Amino acid sequence: MDFNKVIKTRASLRNYSPKKINYEKVLSIIESANSAPSPGNLSILKYIIIDNPETIQKIAQACQQKFITKSQYIVAVCSDSKQTKIMFDERAEKYIKQHAGAVIENFLLKITDLGLASCWVGAFSDITIKKILKIPDEIEVQAILPIAHKSKIKTKQKAKTNLNNIIYFDTWKNKTKTKPRMISGH
Ligand SMILES: Cc1cc2nc3c(=O)[nH]c(=O)nc-3n(C[C@H](O)[C@H](O)[C@H](O)COP(=O)(O)O)c2cc1C
Repeated sequence: MDFNKVIKTRASLRNYSPKKINYEKVLSIIESANSAPSPGNLSILKYIIIDNPETIQKIAQACQQKFITKSQYIVAVCSDSKQTKIMFDERAEKYIKQHAGAVIENFLLKITDLGLASCWVGAFSDITIKKILKIPDEIEVQAILPIAHKSKIKTKQKAKTNLNNIIYFDTWKNKTKTKPRMISGH
C-alpha cells in the first residue's frame, strides 16, 4: 500500500471477523514493530503472542473490553527496563515509553498495510494481565494489541486536529510565522 494511504487508513478497529490468520503474518507484524527506533538500540520490549481462545477471553476480561474476545491473536507488548536504566538513568522511564509508542505505531501501520485490524489497548488491570501471562513484577505491560481480520462494518480513522491549532513558530504559542530568513550570498 502507498505510504500516505497506510497513514490515513490506519484506524482503531474494534469489529472483527472470525477468519483465521496465518502465524507468519503475525511474525511479519512483530518484525515491523521491532524495526522502530530504540534508545541506544537496546532490545527493551518483549512480545507475548497469545492464540489460546481461553486466554484471549481472560485478557478481554482484564481489559473490560468485549471486542477483544473476537481477536484471533493478542500480542502483549512488555518492557524490561533494566538495561535502559543502567544506560540512561533518570531518562530511562521516558525513553521506554517513547520507544514503546514507536513500536506500537509500526505494529499498527503494518497491520493496516496487510489489510488486518487492531486497536491500541492501554486500559487494563496490570495485576490481572501479569497473573494470566505469568509476567514477573519488574516487567511492565505497555499495551495489549489484538490482531484479527476486519468485519464488514466499515470504520474510518477519526478526524484529527487541524494543523493550525497545533503548530507554533519559534516559541511556545507563537502562531505567527515570520518571513523566511535570507541567507547572505544567495
Ligand atoms: C495510549 C493509548 C491507549 C489506548 N487505549 C485504548 C483502549 O484501552 N481501548 C480502546 O478501544 N482504544 C484505545 N486506544 C485507541 C484510541 O481510542 C484511538 O487511537 C483514538 O480514539 C483515535 O482513533 P483512531 O486510532 O481510529 O485514529 C488507545 C490509544 C492510545 C494511544
